[in-house]
Amino acid sequence: MFLCPADDLAEGQYREFQLELNAEPTWLIVTRRGGVPRAWLNLCPHQGRPLNFAPDRFLSDDENRLVCAHHGAVFDPDSGVCVAGPCKNAGLREIGVEEYEGRLFATDPA
Ligand code: FES
Repeated sequence: MFLCPADDLAEGQYREFQLELNAEPTWLIVTRRGGVPRAWLNLCPHQGRPLNFAPDRFLSDDENRLVCAHHGAVFDPDSGVCVAGPCKNAGLREIGVEEYEGRLFATDPA
């Protein structure tokens, strides 16, 4: 499923995208690390809330780790694992994402 032009995702940036899965809206967090796009479901393992504080707006700490806006869980952007906060050691659910001919696609949204 098409997400965006590859140029719309800068290194270290966190973006939110919506997909339709089984007629239900599903939100993703997408980032780029070392040039490689990564994606997770936008559901915090603490209380199942989206991590962002506004549409397409995420918090990060001084190491550019993803921070849940609700109770401050901190996630490693390489693994998606919570490294501090109320759901420490729990992980975000990874979704496959590929860059092809200058565009980003989610490949494993099920
Ligand atoms: S819902 Fe994310 S830290 Fe509580």
